[in-house]
Amino acid sequence: MERMPFGKTADGKEVSRFKLTNAAGAYVQIINYGGIITAINLPDREGRLGDVVLGYDSLEEYVQDRNYFGAIIGRTANRTENACFELEGVEYKLGKNEGNNHLHGGVAGFNKALWDAEMVGSKDGESLLLSYLGKDGEEGYPGNLQARVRYTFTDKNELVMEYGAISDRDTVVNLTNHSYFNLSGHQSGSVLGHKLMICGDRFTPIDSALIPSGEIRSVAGTPMDFMELTAIGARIGWDDGQLLHAGGYDHNWILGNGGKVPEKAAEVVDETSGRVLEVFTTKPGIQFYSGNFLDSVLGKEGALYGKRSGFCLETQYFPNSMKHKHFPSPVLKAGEEYRSTTIYRFSVVA
Ligand code: GLA
Repeated sequence: MERMPFGKTADGKEVSRFKLTNAAGAYVQIINYGGIITAINLPDREGRLGDVVLGYDSLEEYVQDRNYFGAIIGRTANRTENACFELEGVEYKLGKNEGNNHLHGGVAGFNKALWDAEMVGSKDGESLLLSYLGKDGEEGYPGNLQARVRYTFTDKNELVMEYGAISDRDTVVNLTNHSYFNLSGHQSGSVLGHKLMICGDRFTPIDSALIPSGEIRSVAGTPMDFMELTAIGARIGWDDGQLLHAGGYDHNWILGNGGKVPEKAAEVVDETSGRVLEVFTTKPGIQFYSGNFLDSVLGKEGALYGKRSGFCLETQYFPNSMKHKHFPSPVLKAGEEYRSTTIYRFSVVA
């Protein structure tokens, strides 16, 4: 594993970039600012390496970024309506960073934090262990939360993300990663031709603020039906209320897993490069976001990222789950351990 300097934060702290290489010569780069995955270089069907995640060249651009490229999201991913929730009869007010709502951990979420980093070996591959202490009251959340993320890049081209957290007060936790993928290569333009499968036959419909209303709806007969591999762009332009709210896909699908061992949640096939991404998780939900807000973002190596030039598959508790008691609960009790695992497994098809 290599560790290289990657600039300094505004208050003078050194940021490093870590390179995790596997036996096949594929590699992942991660910085300890935001725990951001800055590059994932994988072979295509011809064996040529290509970088399949959107990103920037410099730390300054990651500091300015509003798209959450590659970052760890916490303390809670996605949206909380009116930026407040109630826990054991007490109301907590969170930072508002999207109108009246709280998105992706607030103004200074875990994606803007400097994490402690430790390079560790493991039998499965090179690992990077990141840790960050989210303070009691930070962005309005109760409890000092010690969060950990372990990234391991295996010889089977799997990026394993193991999340852990422990708090000294009851709190809410929902950690994820916000990588934007383009399996043809980060600079390849639209992902609408990629084929997607999601292992869920129900989703949580959103309102015009992109917040789940609490309803649980079958995907049958709707453009949300990705039970079989279907091009992302096949139905994205349909005159469908759910698509119109979000300007495309930006919804949470309900996964049927039991939460103990990672189970398959989604698969994406890019026939152009032959690259395939499979997602496995212990989480009950997955947000499929089709990059609708990307608007001529100047990225790495001079790339210009337009609308829908990357997609995200963010494993999560359902958005707004503190409002809807029939959604799985993101509450973490004091002294108990939060654990979840998500795996991005890459391969190629002929
Ligand atoms: C998430 C949200 C999107 C958008 C992106 C960041 O995926 O669901 O609506 O906010 O993050 O732009």
